[in-house]
Amino acid sequence: MSTGVLYAIQTLRQLMPPAIESGTSLEAELSIPAVVIKDEPRFAYRGMMLDVSRHFFPVSFVKKYIDLIALHKMNTLHWHLTEDQAWRIEIKKYPRLTEVGAFRNGTIIGHHPGTANDQEVYGGFYTQEEVKDIVAYASKQHVTIIPEIEMPGHGAAAIAAYPYLSCFPEEPTSVFNDMMSDKSRELQQSGTPKIVQETWGVMDDVFCGGKESTFAFLQDVLDEVIPLFPSKYVHIGGDESPKANWERCPNCQARIKKEKLNDEHELQSYFVQRMEKYINGKGKQIIGWDEILEGGLAPNATVMSWRGEKGGIEAAKQHHDVIMTPTTYNYFDYYQSEDTENEPLAIGGFLPLEKVYSYNPIPEELDKEEERFVLGAQGNVWTEYMKTEDQVEYMTFPRMAALSEVVWSPQESRSWEDFKERLEHLAKRYYVLDIEYAKHFMENW
Ligand code: ACM
Ligand code: ZN
Repeated sequence: MSTGVLYAIQTLRQLMPPAIESGTSLEAELSIPAVVIKDEPRFAYRGMMLDVSRHFFPVSFVKKYIDLIALHKMNTLHWHLTEDQAWRIEIKKYPRLTEVGAFRNGTIIGHHPGTANDQEVYGGFYTQEEVKDIVAYASKQHVTIIPEIEMPGHGAAAIAAYPYLSCFPEEPTSVFNDMMSDKSRELQQSGTPKIVQETWGVMDDVFCGGKESTFAFLQDVLDEVIPLFPSKYVHIGGDESPKANWERCPNCQARIKKEKLNDEHELQSYFVQRMEKYINGKGKQIIGWDEILEGGLAPNATVMSWRGEKGGIEAAKQHHDVIMTPTTYNYFDYYQSEDTENEPLAIGGFLPLEKVYSYNPIPEELDKEEERFVLGAQGNVWTEYMKTEDQVEYMTFPRMAALSEVVWSPQESRSWEDFKERLEHLAKRYYVLDIEYAKHFMENW
């Protein structure tokens, strides 16, 4: 089925009463308006990022999420598979990645830094067979899955599995404010210094950029990951990688000297460029968070602009492709109401529906030539504070609907008032489809 036909069917669905979603046959006659619709998307990249590392979501939910991406005529799932708190994809050459790295011995309770540790072993992972099944499922819905394998930061789970990946394999993992589980504390006392992270945030213990063994490991991992995903892109992360360990690591310092790099930021650039070369050699392109601009952009990299629009603007001006996902408009882990006391715990911020809807992914700073490098935009669902499927849905919907218009409809034809009216109908469909959604938009009706 062509993509156009798939989207035409989604449109037909939208023209029918929400009750048709229930899957049961309807007694009443079905009538739809006689209309001619000529339609096409504004942007080629219309994405959602799901973080399955902070909390794990089963195959069934990932498929439901893909269905909903397609319902909204979006076309990309950016699948955040590796983190400090878990490694979620089976790698046959490195079984400890999932044996050790897919499980943590506890999780902080409450907002970072937390009030205590829940002392519960938590985890899960996707086998390669499950990944293949999900990718095939997505492909039927014309949704491309981009896997993210984070480097050089956010790698504590991989380091717990293979401590040599750290600059300092003997240095114990620390959990901020001493919030470590008793089980991990015992492990450390009995000679296992590295543990899977149990708190959130940015960790100093990153992959060593000096040792050859780090690169060999990452290449081996990519050798297994790449064949599973037909996507043109592999996301290599690149965000939030502190330089503290690299500054005092003899291997990293030797690398800086040998490669005639000026500082640790250029080592980050060396790291990313070296991995890009490897990935390009396999016929794929890299995407990285906007920190990959530090110390010089890898030649063919696409930049995902998250710390506002600045990184995206800079990359487009350098004639690199850009995907916009600024916290200010696209972080669906932010609160949806200022009345946070009456909201489920979230990371912070404030991103109401209307603000998502108001977004224009083309920054004013770009001229016509540079605009072409903006491929589209993406909503990011980081799950530190989303433990359940319902919670993910509550944070995602209806903000995904607002974003879907941002990336689909021409800027001049968008109207918040019109969207609000149509959202009422969409909400009925959400209800029948058993999707949790935030109802703040109804309050001012
Ligand atoms: C990010 O939110 N650290 C990309
Ligand atoms: Zn190092």
